Amino acid sequence: MFESLPNSVHVFEVGPRDGLQNESALIATADKIKLIEALAATGLRDIEITSFVSPKWIPQLADGPELAKELSTNSILIAQEGLRTSALVPNLKGYQSACDAGLKQVNLFMSASQSHSKKNINKTIEEALATMAEVTAAAKADKRRVRCYVSTVFACPYDGLVDPVVVAEIVEKLLASGVDEISLGDTIGAATPKQVFDLITMLAKERQIPRSQLALHFHDTRGTALANVVAGLESGITIFDSSLGGLGGCPYAPGASGNLATEDLVYMLHGMGIKTGVDLEKLVDAGVLAEKLLGKKLPGRYLMARLAEREKAVKAIA
Ligand code: HMG
Ligand code: MG
Repeated sequence: MFESLPNSVHVFEVGPRDGLQNESALIATADKIKLIEALAATGLRDIEITSFVSPKWIPQLADGPELAKELSTNSILIAQEGLRTSALVPNLKGYQSACDAGLKQVNLFMSASQSHSKKNINKTIEEALATMAEVTAAAKADKRRVRCYVSTVFACPYDGLVDPVVVAEIVEKLLASGVDEISLGDTIGAATPKQVFDLITMLAKERQIPRSQLALHFHDTRGTALANVVAGLESGITIFDSSLGGLGGCPYAPGASGNLATEDLVYMLHGMGIKTGVDLEKLVDAGVLAEKLLGKKLPGRYLMARLAEREKAVKAIA
């Protein structure tokens, strides 16, 4: 173990989208912008800023078009070299909104289980694959980068365990249609490390899927997210999704609680000698802002520990 760890890992921040879509509080667009500016200042180089989905399905992100347009001329974000902003898009209508807002990358999404697919996007897996191919073709013609999430790759809240062969077939079809990167989602945080290792090994060795085109997206519902990251690292994955403070979840996946917290991920990676380019103290500052905006404590473990240390230091001075 730990013989083939990467030198660096790419952290893909989903807090402003996966995080805020699951909060009952509606955050003002100007406050979302402040939060995204704080995230950009940490050194994160991929931030998913919002969704272009139906506002009836996700009212929390109904301001997506306005937010993205404002951010396209935001001087703080423009000053961050190499920062890529992107948004979640379910269909051509959402793709058009992303184009109108000037985004260079769109993030499609579908599920590996039929019931979650129907509940989340009102499409069967086959219908979703056709939509993903349609949007990918449009994006490639426009020279835009395409990421696609495949949700419920281990377990579905409605259908139970998911067959890895089904996941492999979806991944192959998405790559054949031109998708650049696929993020495999443990939507309800049910996976354990050996399952993660076995899935990636099967995809890479039996299906010749390049590991460089795969990312892992863990939710920490049952406390296995960091262990699953280690299994992902061991299996050769170097792109991991996470969310500030551990915010998030899919409103159409009952039981899905917070994402893996970005600070927990970065703390662990740095401790293992793996670079991320992300400033942990600045992430904590962004977490403080998120707590203020949401009016509640966030579940991220490192955030909690560091804030307790900061409070202790302040008391010691006073
Ligand atoms: P539908 O009702 O089947 O769609 O929903 P429709 O084509 O019949 O359209 C219905 C209405 O929605 C129409 O408006 C459309 O114009 C509008 P109306 O005529 O009724 O006023 N509409 C849109 N509006 C804005 N933007 C759009 C758009 N498309 C249609 N892009 C649809 C189908 C896909 C739209 C809907 O199911 C939807 O928006 N679903 C989104 C659900 C969602 O966002 N879930 C959470 C994200 S997934 C997730 O969290 C998992 C992930 O994190 C990875 C993981 O953890 O596994 C990514
Ligand atoms: Mg998610």
